[in-house]
Formats: sequence, C-alpha cells, structure tokens
Amino acid sequence: MAAVYETLLVERRGAVAIITINRPEKRNALNIKTREEGAAALEQLQADDGVRVVIITGAGDKAFIAGADIGEFAGRTALTQRAIMLGRSLFTAIDVFPKPVIAMVNGYCLGGGCELALACDLRIASETAAFGQPEINLGIIPGGGGTQRLTRLIGEGKSMELILTGEIIDAQTALHLGLVNHVVPADQLEARTMEIANQMAEKSPIALRMAKEAVKLASRSNLDEGLRREVDLFALCFSSEDKDEGVGAFLEKRKPSFKGK
Ligand code: COA
Repeated sequence: MAAVYETLLVERRGAVAIITINRPEKRNALNIKTREEGAAALEQLQADDGVRVVIITGAGDKAFIAGADIGEFAGRTALTQRAIMLGRSLFTAIDVFPKPVIAMVNGYCLGGGCELALACDLRIASETAAFGQPEINLGIIPGGGGTQRLTRLIGEGKSMELILTGEIIDAQTALHLGLVNHVVPADQLEARTMEIANQMAEKSPIALRMAKEAVKLASRSNLDEGLRREVDLFALCFSSEDKDEGVGAFLEKRKPSFKGK
C-alpha cells in the first residue's frame, strides 16, 4: 500500500514516480519532517522495481524549495545542528539513489533547495524559476553540499560569486552557467520533464545505475581510477539479461524491452 506523508505527495505515472514537496505556504522549505519523509519515500521507491525514474518538484507555482526551514535554525546549538546534519541525509539519499532523479524546478530554488537540485542527476527549470545560495545573508554558509556540488558543476569562479554574494539568478542565467539542463515555459515544464523521464525509463535499469555511478565518479576520483572503475561498471553490464536483450534487439532490428535483470 502507498505510504501517506504529511509533507509530501508521491504519485506514479507509469514507470515514473513524482515526489512533490507539499508545503506551499512555506514555499516548500525543508524542515526536519520533510527531510525524513523524503528519505523514507526514496527508500520505498528504490525497492519498487516498477519505478525506473523519480522526479522531485515543489507544490504550487511559486517555489521549488525555498531552502532549509529557517524557523528551525532559531535557538539551535552547534552540536544539535551538527548531529542533525550527520544523520540520515535527504541529499545523500538522492545522490546514491540507484535510479535517475530529476529536479523539476518550478520556482524559487534557494539554499537547501538548490542543494537538493544539485544532488539530483538532471535539473529541468521553468522560465519562472530562480536559483541561489543566499545562506550568506543569514550569517551562515551552504551546508548541504552547496559549496562542493555547485563548484564541481559550474566551476569555482561562478560558484564563489553566488555563494559570497547570495545573489539570486534567473533560469536563463542558470542555463548559461550550466546549472540547469533545460529551461522551458512554465506550462510546458511537466510535459518536458516527463518526456525526458520516460526516455530514461525505457532503458535498462541496470545500465542506468552503472552509468549514473560511472558519471559521478568523474568528479570524485582521479582520471586513472575513474577510467579503471568505468571498465568494471561497463563489464558488469555484461552479466545482465538486459545487455543480451539490447544487443539482440539491435541485431534483430527491433525495439528492446528491458526487464532490469
Ligand atoms: N524557511 C522558512 N520559512 C520560509 C522560507 C524558509 N526558507 N522561505 C519562505 N518561508 C515562509 C515565509 O516565512 C512566509 O511565512 P509566513 O507566511 O508564515 O510569514 C511564507 O513562507 C511565504 O514567504 P514570503 O517571503 O512571503 O514569499 P515570497 O513569495 O514573497 O518570497 C522567497 C519567497 C523564497 C523569495 C522568500 O520567502 C525568501 O527569501 N525565503 C528565504 C530564502 C532563503 O534564505 N533560503 C535559504 C535558507 S538557508
């Protein structure tokens, strides 16, 4: 039976699952409950073989996620904050999730929201989306991977500028920086994201998993180690029925049907 969450909506569209952060009155800010439920939802979706791709978005038309819930910061001690952040992390759960995760960015994508989008594999934004790491305005810094993932994605110069100024940029600027994969009109965001998700959902889940792991290695290992491990992941695909199906289908001039085995 599908789980019911207080802060999330989870729906299925064929092989694609959509998680919607559902706190529009707080611009979908991530409080502790949302983070816990997000990680729990991903755990469920990981175990469900029928789900091949996950999309994460925000409820309403204003925000994707406007960051960590700032209300929770008030009065919190350093030790408590550290313990919370070293516990089960939603960002890490997305990062290591063995299926593609797409951020469908429908509005403000700030602070922890931008960090969540950065932990995803692709970011598709509406023209109305806005991005930034405004933590510096609160006397703090990004703590959910922002200084690391943003820098790896768009380079040190631009990352430094965004993090030190707290500037909010529009979707076109984010596209120009390589922060997002595509920008589309707001009324086409869902259709375009679903199109990309369905394109991936038709592939072998095993190959998707190996590909995701291999690509992530590029920024986490040196070239020799990355190339070596790429060979291992490539070879591992040869143990799957999906590889026989993919190669067989090509040779027989038909469309493959991947089973994830
Ligand atoms: N944490 C907690 N509450 C937040 C929030 C956040 N990150 N972002 C927005 N909210 C709340 C507001 O406090 C307000 O609550 P209220 O109605 O109880 O007063 C509600 O969401 C609506 O916010 P509002 O500022 O009125 O909406 P807006 O559409 O005019 O502006 C933002 C949207 C996102 C530009 C603005 O809310 C903002 O700057 N938020 C903080 C962003 C931030 O610094 N994120 C990094 C956190 S580390």
